[in-house]
Amino acid sequence: MSRETSRRSRSGTPGTELGGMFPRVFPKEYVTVVRGEGHTVWDDEGNAYFDAAAGNQNVAVGHGVPEIADAAAEQLERLAYTSSMLFANEPAQAYTEKIAEFTPDGFEKAWLVSSGSEANESAVKLARQYHYERGAEGKYKVLSRRRSYHGNTGIAMGLSGFPARKTKMEPLYPNFPKVPNGSPYRCRFCDGAGGRECGRRCADELERVIQAEDPDTVAAVIAEPVTGAANAAASPHDGYFERVRKICDAYDVLFIVDEVMSGFGRTGENFAIDHWGVTPDIITSAKGMSGGYTPVGGAMPHERIVDVFEDLPDGFQHGHTYSFNPGSAAIGLAVLEYVDDNDLVANARTVGAHLHDRLEECYEYEFVGDVRGKGLMCGLEFVADRESKAPFDPDVGLGDRLFEAGLDNGLITYPGGAHVDGERGDHVLLTPPLSIDEDDADELVDRLHATLAAVERTL
Ligand SMILES: Cc1ncc(COP(=O)(O)O)c(C=O)c1O
Repeated sequence: MSRETSRRSRSGTPGTELGGMFPRVFPKEYVTVVRGEGHTVWDDEGNAYFDAAAGNQNVAVGHGVPEIADAAAEQLERLAYTSSMLFANEPAQAYTEKIAEFTPDGFEKAWLVSSGSEANESAVKLARQYHYERGAEGKYKVLSRRRSYHGNTGIAMGLSGFPARKTKMEPLYPNFPKVPNGSPYRCRFCDGAGGRECGRRCADELERVIQAEDPDTVAAVIAEPVTGAANAAASPHDGYFERVRKICDAYDVLFIVDEVMSGFGRTGENFAIDHWGVTPDIITSAKGMSGGYTPVGGAMPHERIVDVFEDLPDGFQHGHTYSFNPGSAAIGLAVLEYVDDNDLVANARTVGAHLHDRLEECYEYEFVGDVRGKGLMCGLEFVADRESKAPFDPDVGLGDRLFEAGLDNGLITYPGGAHVDGERGDHVLLTPPLSIDEDDADELVDRLHATLAAVERTL
């Protein structure tokens, strides 16, 4: 590890002094990031950081890729905007065709929006209208899982099993039932046995809830195949998603996979659900879909859903000003071409396998309870006691300590938590750009060792 800079020698800017910004947290100090290249970003005092969060897990192709800046400039000069309600545009057609090269067979169309939350809102409304048009007007409920995150807008927040992010807003959202997450580390169905049988038993809980709710009222189920910020790269045992698919088929319920974080190569497959060979009804994605170079999200319905909309004179009852935005589409196209040309999905698989091997070393720190993930979507869960898996008290402020110690060691991690009981639970996501190589992964782990050792000394 060559970098010796220490952020302790400087202070960030208080939230109250960030120009006209209404900051995320007023009483917090923010480091100002001014430049990025590959997996490195620099702050306004010249300190360099390994961006192991890839921004918000979105900077899939790395920072500062010139081809993408060129594609943006070219399109913005030619045509920055046209209304998708009134006109077609060429970049959106080319981008959606490129997206279809990544999605499984049977997924040829994409509904483009500007964020992951909007992608999930779109998917839910697609599911609702799909049932409505087929005469199943009573189907409107969407079931989701505990320890999940589907976004911050109305329906998406209601679907999220993430109390810490929603409690204060609770009465605003539809609150449909939640089913277990199926994460093996804290699975109450496993009896320590694990394996396919456990996966199936977790999924059976979904059937019980569909029956209890009345199947004629249930439109869809939504799940992250590999969970993001709500449970740090956890995924269920084999057998779980296969069983979810069967249950959905049995009750005419659509299966939506939220691949906002895990889609477009992050886990070493085009989509995380591909790890289980299961075909969903709607795939949503965002983040890596435009590499953080522009706000984009999408809902990609299977052709059997598309068929229902093909003859409708009024079409899909949804849309935004920035849906199918040509500037964003040109940028997204350049990003996916870069992913393709540089074989980044396969790279995420091989470098991810190496990174996982190295991350196992983290068990040398007593407060690391679980190391997990797929491809370059990795997570560590922290515990006050490894035997009982008891989480830390929130007063310990473990997430902040980890983030700060990371910055001191030139590493950006993505802490999260409150997943155990709504207040307790600490984890970090490690989701570097898909473009890193094995030497970069080693550097990441070296910096992580320094970070974990520093935090352990303070516990
Ligand atoms: C799995 C998942 N779904 C939905 C969202 C919401 O996406 P956005 O923040 O772009 O609205 C996120 C964001 O982190 C996410 O990780």
